Amino acid sequence: MKTRICGTGSALPKLVVTNDDLSKIMDTSDEWISSRTGIRSRHLAVEENLTGLATEAAKQALEESGIKAEELDMILAATLSADNICPSLSCELQRELGAVNAVAFDINAACSGFLFALQTADAYIKTGMHKKILLVGGEILSKLMDWNDRSTCVLFGDGAGAAVVQADEDGGVLANVQGADGAKGEALVVENRKVNNPYVTNSKELSYTFMNGQEVYKFAVKTVPKAILEAVEKAGLTVEDIDLFVIHQANMRIIESVSKRLKVSMDKFPTSLEECGNISAGSVPILLDKVNKKGMLKKGDKVVLAGFGGGLTWGASVLTW
Ligand code: UT7
Repeated sequence: MKTRICGTGSALPKLVVTNDDLSKIMDTSDEWISSRTGIRSRHLAVEENLTGLATEAAKQALEESGIKAEELDMILAATLSADNICPSLSCELQRELGAVNAVAFDINAACSGFLFALQTADAYIKTGMHKKILLVGGEILSKLMDWNDRSTCVLFGDGAGAAVVQADEDGGVLANVQGADGAKGEALVVENRKVNNPYVTNSKELSYTFMNGQEVYKFAVKTVPKAILEAVEKAGLTVEDIDLFVIHQANMRIIESVSKRLKVSMDKFPTSLEECGNISAGSVPILLDKVNKKGMLKKGDKVVLAGFGGGLTWGASVLTW
């Protein structure tokens, strides 16, 4: 039994903030941001919350799949910025959708989160334990940024993407690769509340998000092509057989480097970071929905999905559309 994606969806907050808009409130420029990253604008949540965006994305994915919310066996939401630590985003989604028969839990694997959700779903489907699963990847990263740190806050955006997968004989996930290197975790840190109770005398303030951009960059350009090659080989294919590479949207230079290392034309690497920035666990499902809605995916196409980021973590999957 294979795990086939049968519907996708996405939702972005209404407010669009361009690089020029940011240059009015901090010492940055469109020239710096677009030449270093390829990002031109991003959507930032003002009125929206993550549950609302994820619910909208999930409804679109369910509609395309023809599966009703009550038929779902499981909801896996990948995020590090859920509205609450508890209940999880997936439990909030279960309530909003009326998916009364679904077990629900979140996966925190930063920008690899959607890949890990897909691969977890694939494992459940292969054991026969579940058949119809909703996957969501989404973030409201703007609330976790230090808006005085121009080196990180200009890079990220808010939004959510979703996919419904089901057990199928035809098509679906062919191979998965996943990994983690906690020893390098300090390259990208989003802090939670510190230890604090009546017995703690020197409780510290939150310091939000810190990223050693160059370390993460070096990790990405080395690890992502390797993971993709491993997954493609495991699927019994070569990179020439792949029609589309939907990879995490962190930096155009990283995407170009992956395309160069794999010797695959950039035409096969669709992007959304120009308008969305980096949405961590939301990047891959939002881009997947964009290419699906544009009609860029035909039945039988071979697709690579790949994510990388905080943890550090990485994952790649090869599937037949
Ligand atoms: O999703 C998680 C995965 N994350 C990533 O994949 C991120 C990977 N890393 C990157 O994309 C890049 O490393 C960055 C885009 C984050 C940074 O690019 P860089 O070429 O490594 O720049 P840098 O950090 O070396 O900074 C160069 C200069 C510095 O000035 P000095 O010290 O050379 O005078 C910074 O202060 O650029 C300055 N700078 C800025 N200037 C204008 C940093 N941020 C800004 C800014 N506007 N927003």
